Amino acid sequence: MSALVLALNPSIDAEWRVDDVIWEEKNNVQFERRWAGGKGINVARWLKHLGGKPKLFLPLGGVTGDELARYIREERISTSIIPLAGPTRVNVIITTGAGRQMRFNPLGPKLTKPEWKIIVERVESRLGQGSLLILSGSLPRGVPLNAYAHLITRARKHGVRTLLDCDGDVLIASIPSRPFLVKPNEHELARWFGRPLRTEKDVVRAARALSEKTRGWVFVSRGAGASLLLNVQEQFQTFARPARVKPRNTVGAGDALLAGVARQIQLGTLPSEWLEHGLSVGTRATQCLPGHVS
Ligand SMILES: Nc1ncnc2c1ncn2[C@@H]1O[C@H](COP(=O)(O)OP(=O)(O)OP(=O)(O)O)[C@@H](O)[C@H]1O
Ligand SMILES: [Mg+2]
Repeated sequence: MSALVLALNPSIDAEWRVDDVIWEEKNNVQFERRWAGGKGINVARWLKHLGGKPKLFLPLGGVTGDELARYIREERISTSIIPLAGPTRVNVIITTGAGRQMRFNPLGPKLTKPEWKIIVERVESRLGQGSLLILSGSLPRGVPLNAYAHLITRARKHGVRTLLDCDGDVLIASIPSRPFLVKPNEHELARWFGRPLRTEKDVVRAARALSEKTRGWVFVSRGAGASLLLNVQEQFQTFARPARVKPRNTVGAGDALLAGVARQIQLGTLPSEWLEHGLSVGTRATQCLPGHVS
């Protein structure tokens, strides 16, 4: 069975290499690279690479939407496109010769109510084909705050397990629907908990509170530090550290980790394997350029 991946606010990511950025001057772009970006797409790309047969749901609009659809086709990721009136966004990353970066992320299209309804119907109609539903990233404008909560509830009715990776109010609104697994990083967990997490004990306390609410799994990723996988009901609580590496790029490492965990759940392995493989795929992603897998 495939893993369904919803990427609600995808982007084309465009990197412009410049010598330096000078205000009030014309800045010559030496090199441009464009690729399919956004958290859901990152998860689907890694999951495909790991043999997980993802099925991606992708709302796209305008000529940028057509361009993104082309990149996804080239990558041979199985995709269900939902056409939008508004154009897909282009996130710009400016990298200077000294390696400094500026990032510009437009809000993306505002979805209409009928567009959102079509997306929900499309995902719901495919729930019978999936064993997992992965919900990753922020919500676009026009989509209700309980969007993920609604889909998590629908998925459970079909016996589909949900993996959730989001932040802030969306995370808060999604927790009562009890996703199977939540993957906050430490900052996201602290925001949900409403208090800073200063020690490992604090991280455990917050993760336990989250697991008590979902009655499910919580994977707290902590960059180069020790990550925590926990489930209060299953009396499982384990910290593990990723391998020591010199990261080339850490953006999207959390998405790769989530794909690694999803693959292990698909394979029916033990939670200790979810932790180990999730960390190892996350760390592999730190060695790749954005948009690449290896
Ligand atoms: N410096 C690092 N060294 C080794 N592994 C790393 C490093 N940074 C990230 N990782 C790997 O990637 C995983 C996810 O990283 P992190 O906790 O930073 O995710 P995140 O904040 O959700 O990232 P994003 O949302 O940008 O994808 C870590 O658990 C680890 O396996
Ligand atoms: Mg993340």
